[in-house]
Amino acid sequence: MAEAAPGRPASRTAVLVAQARAVADGRIAPDRFADPVAVRLLDDTERADVERARDDSPPPGWRQRMAYELLRATAEQMAVRTVTVDDAIRAAATPQVVILGAGLDDRAWRLEELAGVTVVEVDHPASQADKRRRVEGLEPVSAPRYAAVDLATSPLGPALATVGFDETLPTTWVWEGVVMYLAPPAVESTVGQVAALSAPGSRLIVNYASPSWVTLLGRLVFVRLARLTGGETPFADEPNRSAWKPEGMGRLLTRHGFRVDTDDDLAATAQSVGVEIQHRARLRPFRIVVARR
Ligand SMILES: C[S@@+](CC[C@H](N)C(=O)[O-])C[C@H]1O[C@@H](n2cnc3c(N)ncnc32)[C@H](O)[C@@H]1O
Repeated sequence: MAEAAPGRPASRTAVLVAQARAVADGRIAPDRFADPVAVRLLDDTERADVERARDDSPPPGWRQRMAYELLRATAEQMAVRTVTVDDAIRAAATPQVVILGAGLDDRAWRLEELAGVTVVEVDHPASQADKRRRVEGLEPVSAPRYAAVDLATSPLGPALATVGFDETLPTTWVWEGVVMYLAPPAVESTVGQVAALSAPGSRLIVNYASPSWVTLLGRLVFVRLARLTGGETPFADEPNRSAWKPEGMGRLLTRHGFRVDTDDDLAATAQSVGVEIQHRARLRPFRIVVARR
């Protein structure tokens, strides 16, 4: 069994978004979204939170009520985000898929289209060790290769080379729910490295946050309330470090030789992919850009 790396703890936001996908499974847009694997990655207490959030009656007490509301709102976001990224992956098959900041991403266990595709999961060492513990015993569609990399401090290329990544082949890069946790220099450096490792025909799918008072205030209020009620917040060790206007993200990508195909906010995307949502304003700051080399 993989041990958690010392130092920085495994990502809690990775658990939050996996819980949210488990909450959404079968409840939100069941004709478009399904993630039956997510719940299998959770520990008992995490699964109990999911069961409460799947119930339409809120639980009593502040602490549980906060976890309930956070999970239900995040579930909407995850349903839209997952459908959009899945569709973008399916839209152009490539022989390699690299998932950056993979967390508890379960596409290698869930997407039949990945059969025969080389899947590489890159994550911070502590989060990756935690993920590897959680997937033990699950049968993948394509067994992922694991490259432990801190994107803020370590180069990507050598770590990918050790797991057999082939930079002469086109790659689909998935960078979902991670950019906000990296400072701008780390984002710039990662895009530069991804560009250098991208053969013609490669695509980069990036989910990022644009600057938003709604997100900022929501996060502050949530963290403060969690402290007051003695609850936990998944954001405590993972502060937001960057937000990008679409123009800034577009400039960054083109600077490194990518051409942007689409860049849409999740509220608009919800409509086009057919996912009905209630928290439109909450989704608007979050965007997904698809670019190619
Ligand atoms: C919110 S989770 C998203 C996980 C996954 N992409 C998903 O959408 O389910 C954020 C992920 O980014 C990773 N991450 C954050 N900072 C990182 C860094 N400096 N290097 C590598 N991974 C990082 C965390 O370990 C975590 O797995």
